[in-house]
Amino acid sequence: MNSTAQINAEEHKYWNSDSADYWVSQKSALDQFLEPWARLLVGAAQLSGGEQIADIGCGTGATTLKFAASVGTGGRVTGIDLSRKLIDSAISSARERAIENVMFVEADAAEYRFPCPQDLIVSRCGVMFFGDLVAAFSHLRSGLARAGRILLVVWRAPEQNEWYQFPVRCAAPFSDQEPKHDPDAPGAFTLADPSKVKQILVSAGFRNIQLRAVTEKLCVGQTVKSAAELFMAMGTIRNLLDRADVELLDQVKCHMSQGLEAYRQESGVYMNGTCWLVHASA
Ligand SMILES: C[S@@+](CC[C@H](N)C(=O)[O-])C[C@H]1O[C@@H](n2cnc3c(N)ncnc32)[C@H](O)[C@@H]1O
Repeated sequence: MNSTAQINAEEHKYWNSDSADYWVSQKSALDQFLEPWARLLVGAAQLSGGEQIADIGCGTGATTLKFAASVGTGGRVTGIDLSRKLIDSAISSARERAIENVMFVEADAAEYRFPCPQDLIVSRCGVMFFGDLVAAFSHLRSGLARAGRILLVVWRAPEQNEWYQFPVRCAAPFSDQEPKHDPDAPGAFTLADPSKVKQILVSAGFRNIQLRAVTEKLCVGQTVKSAAELFMAMGTIRNLLDRADVELLDQVKCHMSQGLEAYRQESGVYMNGTCWLVHASA
């Protein structure tokens, strides 16, 4: 078993390598794909205006900017991410849109010290990557004001998420490897088990913990071609096909594109995605 320090070092490397390039190069497609979850978070936050908010694992910043637009000029939103490339991309987006009540910090959220107590901590799929989940959530709780809250979107199980099952099912027959899942290791589905989420948050000192299952049609691409490109660039699919040559990769993409036709609608290609909306008080 790897130590927490080892896991954290691996995560830092991972989110500053090919994975960051994927999130930057596919930024608009991924933001469209994950947009229902940003909308869900902002709606559930029931902001009154003027809050101090932190977005954990903010990536290229779409959720952070959505909160900044909703919190009013008296409020402030801080996006925290350990990837330099993703923070740079988030800063560019804020500048392009002239959003001023926002700040982006390159830091490990499990250690970052907030300059003032936060009213709300939010995250869209950015809190599953800590080496020690209880320690990280305890630290986050210590950054909240007394009446502070945490509001998270985390993926439910892989087998319940069509957007994940579909590309894996398409690519697996072309690979000599099995798709790997270790629910105890950092990854997209680490917080899929609701009892595990509750246990972690209770151990971290949170109260009034509530989980609500939410299912949405997620847009995986405007066209079949862009959906196939998004899926082929996904980390899980790249890992499954890491020994494939260009010809085989073309075959997989072609097979995937054929399958994607069944999900095509007038405004794009849609698949089911399901998450837990997690809410707790400090
Ligand atoms: C799945 S991405 C989600 C990005 C973003 N929330 C979004 O919805 O577009 C996970 C993000 O968490 C960040 N991350 C992982 N571990 C982190 C840590 N310990 N501290 C801060 N950010 C972290 C990664 O760099 C990555 O940007």
